[in-house]
Amino acid sequence: MHLRMDEQAPKEAQYAEEGPGPGIFRAKLEDQLRRPETQQQPISQTGCWRSVRRGYVLLGALGLLAGAGVGSWLLVLYLWPAASQPISGTLQDEEMTSSCSGASSEESPLPSLPKTVSFRVNSEGFLLEVQVKVRPAWLLVCHEGWSSAVGMQICRSLGHLRLTHHNGVTLSDIKLNSSQGFAQLTPRLGSVLEEVWQPRDNCTSGRVVSLKCSECGARPLASRIVGGQSVAPGRWPWQASVALGLRHTCGGSVLAPHWVVTAAHCMHSFRLSRLSSWRVYTGLVSHSAIRPHQGAVVERIIPHPLYSAQNHDYDIALLRLQMPLNFSDTVGAVCLPTKEQDFPGGSRCWVSGWGHTDPSHTHSSATLQDTVVPLLSTQLCNSSCVYSGALTPRMLCAGYLDGRADACQGDSGGPLVCPDGDTWRLVGVVSWGRGCAEPNHPGVYAKVAEFLDWIHDTAQQVR
Ligand code: ARG
Repeated sequence: MHLRMDEQAPKEAQYAEEGPGPGIFRAKLEDQLRRPETQQQPISQTGCWRSVRRGYVLLGALGLLAGAGVGSWLLVLYLWPAASQPISGTLQDEEMTSSCSGASSEESPLPSLPKTVSFRVNSEGFLLEVQVKVRPAWLLVCHEGWSSAVGMQICRSLGHLRLTHHNGVTLSDIKLNSSQGFAQLTPRLGSVLEEVWQPRDNCTSGRVVSLKCSECGARPLASRIVGGQSVAPGRWPWQASVALGLRHTCGGSVLAPHWVVTAAHCMHSFRLSRLSSWRVYTGLVSHSAIRPHQGAVVERIIPHPLYSAQNHDYDIALLRLQMPLNFSDTVGAVCLPTKEQDFPGGSRCWVSGWGHTDPSHTHSSATLQDTVVPLLSTQLCNSSCVYSGALTPRMLCAGYLDGRADACQGDSGGPLVCPDGDTWRLVGVVSWGRGCAEPNHPGVYAKVAEFLDWIHDTAQQVR
């Protein structure tokens, strides 16, 4: 993790103020107003009459000019507010749009389907609720037609790896609002989850669905953490160190007790190492404190089948652990993003790892480091001033164009997480970058949202 400590000031605000503001417009308009005066000819000294005549002519001309000047000035005053509107956007984007090809300051809206149905699990009793497009109210789900397969699909759509518990709860056992509505699954062959919910006034079975998905994205100790860059235990409970024996090689993120996600290039560069040499350490902050017996043994390494060592496309791998991790306050899973979730450019996300703290160093950091890195639009990141089209749709950029802070060697495979309410989601996996924290070369991450099906299918098949 490379972090320039001298540049902690909120640069975005600074940039917005430095942008081409009213000054530029004022200078141009004043130039135009002054020009007629500067173009005047000096009065000739030859002959009194001529001078007097010229004097009258000049006076007339000056009068006309003065009139025109006052007129223009009034016009300027009238039009000024429109011309002096501050230009929005940060210099990061503004500078790029003016000088780089392929850049745009606007995040181009992704063509996404309008969401027709949303799910949530209420905290009391874990009752499943559904919201369908036709009604804004959250409806309880009738148990008839329910199956674990539907539960699994819902848990996945919420960013969880698994369904852990589901059952029917008798309606007379729960306190309900008189206005509470219900929804029933209508079994239609081949229909997608989005189309199968019918609002009802009651459930014929007299039971509703209670659902628990595998836990993720919570930081039980977070409330005890007070500012600063030194990471306290439990701040990023999903952070893993993927090591060869005791030697840290890459970062990783815990997805479930048996599963850790990392970068495919981490495993590829060490492909000659034996499977039995790999260890995964969790619940750590200080790397020097690790002991061999604390490492989890890796049972399988599954790199994405389409990973390319040439351009780092599909830079993601799953590690299956031989024994499940014991979840605690300092070890836990991160949530995946939901399918339709789009974290826009500017989202304040965090990257963490034991990587180099200075690009010229060759050792990993003794203690876990973290830093905020805002997401950057792919259009900006792929522009001619940044990575000139090197990003594939499986990548995303985060960081700063002024090179303030970045991930570095040894952080690869580690988490880029973004907050979604109280839940932390794994949006990126540290993948590559030109140098570390170099101006115009932010960090590039594998885009987890593109791998949801692969992650779920792999975690389901390999057991
Ligand atoms: N490939 C590097 C690794 O193996 C990580 C590079 C990240 N670089 C960056 N500038 N963000 O650890």
